[in-house]
Amino acid sequence: MKQLADIAHALVSPGKGILAADESSPTIEKRFKSIQVPSTEENRLAYRQLLFSAPDLGRHISGVILFDETLRQRASDGMPIAELLLRQGIVPGIKVDSGAKPLAMHAGEKVTEGLDGLRGRLADYAALGAQFSKWRAVISIDRGIPTPFCLEANAHALARFAALSQEAGLVPIVEPEVLMDGGHTIECCEEVTGAALGKVFASLAAHRVHFEGMLLKPNMVVSGNKCEAQASPREVAEVTLRCLKRFVPAAVPGIVFLSGGLSDGDATKNLNAMNQLGGAPWELSFSFGRALQSPALKAWGGEQENGLAMQRALLHRAHCNHQARFGRYRESMETPDATP
Ligand code: 13P
Repeated sequence: MKQLADIAHALVSPGKGILAADESSPTIEKRFKSIQVPSTEENRLAYRQLLFSAPDLGRHISGVILFDETLRQRASDGMPIAELLLRQGIVPGIKVDSGAKPLAMHAGEKVTEGLDGLRGRLADYAALGAQFSKWRAVISIDRGIPTPFCLEANAHALARFAALSQEAGLVPIVEPEVLMDGGHTIECCEEVTGAALGKVFASLAAHRVHFEGMLLKPNMVVSGNKCEAQASPREVAEVTLRCLKRFVPAAVPGIVFLSGGLSDGDATKNLNAMNQLGGAPWELSFSFGRALQSPALKAWGGEQENGLAMQRALLHRAHCNHQARFGRYRESMETPDATP
C-alpha cells in the first residue's frame, strides 16, 4: 500500500500533472480527421512518439496515460514506449475501461464496460510497465437525467476497477465525468457532480479501496456549454472546490482534472484560479487530453518536419499548466515564446 501512495504522490508532485494520451481508436480517428490525417497504426505511433519525446517533457509532466496499443508499441529506435517515458522521468499509465455503452432501459444514459477479465489484463499491463490505470464513467445532464440508478451503476463499476487495480499494484485514477454538453447552469452541474462523487466515494469505501493510493479525475464544475450565463474562472474555482470539499476525503492525495472540451486556455485559467484560492486538502492538478494536445495536434498536421513546432506547442501548454499549479499563470504567458 505504501508503494501505491508513493506513486500517487509522484503523479501529483508540485508543479506537475498528467498528459492523457489514451484516446481509443475511434477517438483518435476523430482527432486526426480534424487535421485530415488518416488514423493508421503508423501515424498514431509517429504522433505519440513525437509527443513523448519532447525535450524535457518530464519537467512538467509526471505521468502519461496510454491506450493499450501504445503500451505495446516500440519507438523507431526499438525502445518500448514505456521505457521512453521512464527515461524522461515520466510514469507510464494505462486506460483499462472499454468505453461507455448505453445503459439498458435508461434512455440517454451510459455505463462503462470492461470489468470482465480485468484482473488478467491488469497483470499484463503491470508486466508491460504500467504503474497506474484509468477508468472513465460518463454522466450526462438532460431532462430527467442522470437517474440515481445510473450514478449507482457507474460508481459500482469505478469501485470494482479501483479495487482490482490496487490489488495488481496499480494506482487507480477514478474518473466520473459529468459532461459539460447542454444548457444547464453551473448550479445544476454542482448538484449532479456532488451526487456522483457522493456515490463514488461510498462505493470506493464499500469495496475497501485505499484512498491514499488513488487519484480522482473529476470534471471542473462549469456552466453547460449551451448555457447563456457562463461562469468566470473565479466562480468555477469557488464552486468546484466547495463541491469537492463536501464529497472527497482528505486522504486522497490529489485531484487531477479532465479538460472535458474546455478550450486549452479556459482549462488552464480555471486550474490557476483554484490554486490561487488555496485551502484545499489535496494537490489540485491536471490530467488533460485535449487541453494539452490540441495546439500540438494542429502544429503537427501529420508531417514529420513539423515535429519541433509540435513539441514546442505541447511544452508551451505544459508550462502554462505548470504555472497554474502554483496559481502563477498569466495570460501574457500565452505568447508562444513565453516558454522558457
Ligand atoms: P480531456 O482532457 O480531453 O477531457 O481528456 C481527458 C481524459 O482522459 C478523458 O478520459
